[in-house]
Amino acid sequence: MAAEIKNLKDLQNTEYSLKKLFKEAEDFLPLLGTDYVELYVGNAKQSAHFYKTAFGFQSEAYAGLETGLKDRVSYVLKQGKIRLVLTTPLQKDGELNEHINVHGDGVKVVALWVEDARKAFEETTKRGAKPYLEPTVEKDEHGEIVKSGIYTYGETVHMFIERKNYNGIFLPGFQKWESHYNPEPVGLKFIDHMVGNVGWDEMNTWCKFYGEVMGFAQIISFADDDIATDYTALMSKVMSNGNGRVKFPINEPAKGKKKSQIEEYLDFYNGPGVQHIAVATDDIVATVSAMRERGVEFLYVPDEYYDDLTERVGEIDEDVEVLKKHGILIDRDEEGYLLQLFTKTVVDRPTMFIEVIQRKGAQSFGVGNFKALFEAIEREQALRGTL
Ligand code: FE2
Repeated sequence: MAAEIKNLKDLQNTEYSLKKLFKEAEDFLPLLGTDYVELYVGNAKQSAHFYKTAFGFQSEAYAGLETGLKDRVSYVLKQGKIRLVLTTPLQKDGELNEHINVHGDGVKVVALWVEDARKAFEETTKRGAKPYLEPTVEKDEHGEIVKSGIYTYGETVHMFIERKNYNGIFLPGFQKWESHYNPEPVGLKFIDHMVGNVGWDEMNTWCKFYGEVMGFAQIISFADDDIATDYTALMSKVMSNGNGRVKFPINEPAKGKKKSQIEEYLDFYNGPGVQHIAVATDDIVATVSAMRERGVEFLYVPDEYYDDLTERVGEIDEDVEVLKKHGILIDRDEEGYLLQLFTKTVVDRPTMFIEVIQRKGAQSFGVGNFKALFEAIEREQALRGTL
């Protein structure tokens, strides 16, 4: 298991081989990858326009009144392998309205692509998962899918999607969404990881859930003194499935002189939930430039971050001046390095944001970047008066 990491050198020396750790994990819950992420939002039509324009997502599928739904509408957006589903209720009351009222716009479903959704449900519920949806078959003229679901932290759920007998655009009931407005993609390829914020002293509970119920293994742990400023702190552990395609870091607040940013999230989201979705690109400079041009706001990184960059991370292919111009963070582990940049929150409440990540060998997460992110969010927190 991963050791506590006090600095980057420890991280580099920490032994964690995904292959070694996960032999067992693949046996009872093999995951093919992330299938889709569904957000419950106040106005899916307008949110869809935002994710198309600002992030380069493409119109993929639609379900609503025109397709026979009475109570909700869903837009499916795609870029690379990433599928975002934006869902809004069409009537008053009910689960969707309640979710939006309590949490604001946010992630409800992190759907996982499986070979066998019945087995995924059976294996996880027998290990203690709280059921959300019993295995259900849905059909249309394009075949059938099997889906099932379990709860994770807060009101967030994991759906298991089995689609080997389906060749429709998304799921039964959805039709192709034809749009004349198709902004260029910005190079987002797949979901690298999704981070959950959980309550005080709950990090280990949820890491245990991912370990025991879903067969994940812990690959990294950051203690509160790793990720602390003079004022506030957090703790984090990273859980990964067997093939490393699905990674869920879990954060909890830690005590400091002022309010932890995780606590700020919990206050505004009214409980645990998804803090950020990290999307991978092969060219972070091009991706971030395109996103900036389209109006995406990123967290500010102070110039001093780049002063001793080469000493910290060694030789890199990119021009440091270009990285500095965009505020891109760089960190290294023993296998290579990674580049990351974080947007400001993409919803009105200070809750969810998007990370852009490019991995050049590194498979883990650097403590240096984690701290830089933490400090950048804290600057935003101070502006909001919630520090
Ligand atoms: Fe991240």
